[in-house]
Amino acid sequence: MKLLILNGPNLNMLGKREPEIYGKNTLNDVLNLVEEYCNSLNCDVEFYQSNHEGDLIDKIQMTDADGIVFNAGAYTHTSVALRDAISSVKTPVVEVHISNVHSREEFRHKSMMAPVCLGQICGFGLDSYILAVNGLYRFLSKDVK
Ligand code: DQA
Repeated sequence: MKLLILNGPNLNMLGKREPEIYGKNTLNDVLNLVEEYCNSLNCDVEFYQSNHEGDLIDKIQMTDADGIVFNAGAYTHTSVALRDAISSVKTPVVEVHISNVHSREEFRHKSMMAPVCLGQICGFGLDSYILAVNGLYRFLSKDVK
């Protein structure tokens, strides 16, 4: 089984960006944590980050992964194009956020993507990624080895 961990705009700034909300860990720390967890599951993993909507759409369309864990950053709340990309493929996508978007500004309460995702995890810091990988792995284990 192979999972794609997809990160959108400004997530390359983790560690420097609003540490009171997102913590002091960097995107590299996320990658190391997730890689170690995927290794323990015997699951292949690929990481991709882009600040550009079109790049993220291309990646969703072209991935050979069995499932995607996706932190779309602010595009979560605005992008019909990313929602349509998720709808266009059979690959299941789990939406993930480091912060609890529902306890923040009202514009973060709405996710364009949530209705076309397998599920949504938010508010657990970096562990949101681990919980998302776990949910996706267990879902996929039912039909993919
Ligand atoms: C975020 C939440 C979004 O609202 C925000 O725009 C981000 C990060 C999170 O991981 O908590 O860029 O996706």
